Amino acid sequence: MTSFARDARGYACLGGMRLDELLTQAEVATPAYVYDLDGIRKAATALEQAFGTRDHLVAYALKANAAGSIVRTIRACGVGACLVSGAELLVAEGAGIAPTRMVMNGVAKADWELDLAISKGLYGIQAESLEELERIAARARAQKRRARVGLRINPGVEIDSHSHIATGHDAAKFGIPRDQLATAFERVAASSDELGCVGVSVHVGSMLTRPEPYLESATAVCEVIKEAERAGHRLEYLNFGGGFGIQYDDQPIEAPARFVEAAIGLSERMGLSALKLVVEPGRSMVGPHGVLVARVVQHKQGKSRQWLMLDAGMNDLLRPALYGARHRIEPLEHAPGALEWRVVGPICESSDDFGSHAIGEPSEHVVIRDVGAYGFSMASEYNGRALASEVFVDAGKLVHVSKSPGYRAWVERRLRA
Ligand code: LLP
Repeated sequence: MTSFARDARGYACLGGMRLDELLTQAEVATPAYVYDLDGIRKAATALEQAFGTRDHLVAYALKANAAGSIVRTIRACGVGACLVSGAELLVAEGAGIAPTRMVMNGVAKADWELDLAISKGLYGIQAESLEELERIAARARAQKRRARVGLRINPGVEIDSHSHIATGHDAAKFGIPRDQLATAFERVAASSDELGCVGVSVHVGSMLTRPEPYLESATAVCEVIKEAERAGHRLEYLNFGGGFGIQYDDQPIEAPARFVEAAIGLSERMGLSALKLVVEPGRSMVGPHGVLVARVVQHKQGKSRQWLMLDAGMNDLLRPALYGARHRIEPLEHAPGALEWRVVGPICESSDDFGSHAIGEPSEHVVIRDVGAYGFSMASEYNGRALASEVFVDAGKLVHVSKSPGYRAWVERRLRA
């Protein structure tokens, strides 16, 4: 389900509001991200409901989008947080999520981040190596506390996704290889004053379009837990990670709830239904409910191409340059026509290129779709371009505006550097 639609006159809308009117009302210039909180709430609620009566924790991966308005909306649906930094922990906590509903990943968590996670009493600090387990034990000892650790395993599973977002294969830096897991459990047991091993987790990659690879890595988690139980270890949770894909084009894909149903079925078949089932979705909660509105700065007739040049670039939306991702781009003021344009940004890099899109007659503004996840969160100020404004709508009303700091702030900071 996307929050994007067109009204009867052909204007692009998000969350039931015309995007041009919204930007005027919000008093922001382009480029501007616009999010529909109601769409995000519906996605979070649908996922919560997919668990039925099963004991579970949906841990929203803040890396997808850490805007306070979004995290608070998600928290109100009963969702927790999946973190990869101390700063994300502080945002999640500030947005009202209890640390006992947070899990933390990261291959190289800094000492201060471990200290923070231990002192807050996170539900699970997910260790990604034997070496990290030693560090967590040492930090916990210094605090005279017992850290709740999970073991993030590397299941050795290849998925059909872009190589930059596949994490569960043997050459990836993530997770503890399976042949080191017995040692990991032993080390935790040997440091029982400092460490309690509470769970096993996996995250095999992002943008999964069907549940099979998810189940393959989830099976590895179940097997590891069964083995650990046979060796006398008692665990509280199994965590199958995030990675549910969204529809970036016209091809429908499996809804996140289908992944959850399959995960519940698997854990029951493996005899693990008494454990809490944790999932870590990011993209699927927010991706379809955000757009980036950009102004067309100019057209250019090249030798072999017609270019449409925007005021939004790879600094605002990195996904096309980094992964070759394709986001639908449509005119704001009218429905798309047949005429194709090569749509690019203002950044001095050839990869600042959003691909060819059927726009039709040039419009004043365009809408880049499905950018609620990994859009603003990966933005930079490259080339002296300010971070974009963010506008939030809810139930057909403008509810919040986070204004761009503006380019002058960048100029001043660079001069002070
Ligand atoms: N859990 C862990 C341990 C992760 O590393 C990730 C994402 C997630 C959960 C959430 O995955 P999701 O449900 O959002 O797929 N920047 C890339 C995506 C990188 C994902 C990194 N890890 C993109 O724009 O496609």
